[in-house]
Amino acid sequence: MADTIADLLGISRVIPVVTLDDAAHALPLADALLAGGIGIAEITLRTAAALRAIEVLARERPGFCVGGGTCRNAGDLRSLAGAGAAFAVSPGSTPALVAAARQSALPWLPGAATVSEMMSLEAEGYTVLKVFPASLAGGIELLRAVAPVLPALRFCPTGGISPRNVAGFLAEPNVACVGGSWIAPADLLRHGAWDEVTRNAAAAVAAAG
Ligand code: 3PG
Repeated sequence: MADTIADLLGISRVIPVVTLDDAAHALPLADALLAGGIGIAEITLRTAAALRAIEVLARERPGFCVGGGTCRNAGDLRSLAGAGAAFAVSPGSTPALVAAARQSALPWLPGAATVSEMMSLEAEGYTVLKVFPASLAGGIELLRAVAPVLPALRFCPTGGISPRNVAGFLAEPNVACVGGSWIAPADLLRHGAWDEVTRNAAAAVAAAG
């Protein structure tokens, strides 16, 4: 059911969003995040290495919760399920994706940026939504504005979250967690800067309180 995503997002209040160029980075990435206190990541379907990285993590790091992001259609959802992803994240939602998610056992975090999109997803039974691109869609002010009108919804804002504003987003009562690429950005992965990824993760955990 849709809301098992809430349990998964309960693993960490900060979800690293990671774009991997090389599937060989998957295990050191997970180990670096775990060392910093984060046991979950969203690997984006934006590179050829993404599905392989998810497969490797699902098989080799059962204690690490790996999801797949940038899920744009039913085919992506099937690929993620086949690779062993624990959950799927979409930047938005379409009627076709909602229909595919209903047929899939994979917990799904659909994206929304407007009140109408949020209402449509709530009507489909989804009560935890990604807000993307969060800072451009209105940031903390948007989340505050929708809180009284959509009181059953909880959000994972993503897009423009940084060490500077993460604590502010997490302080909002309707924010379940946040997502962001700053913890494990592509350049750190390319340079094998795993200690820096661990430091970023630990700092994010500290900021989350
Ligand atoms: C996402 O895929 O959710 C975003 O690209 C992450 O946004 P950020 O790079 O601003 O953290």
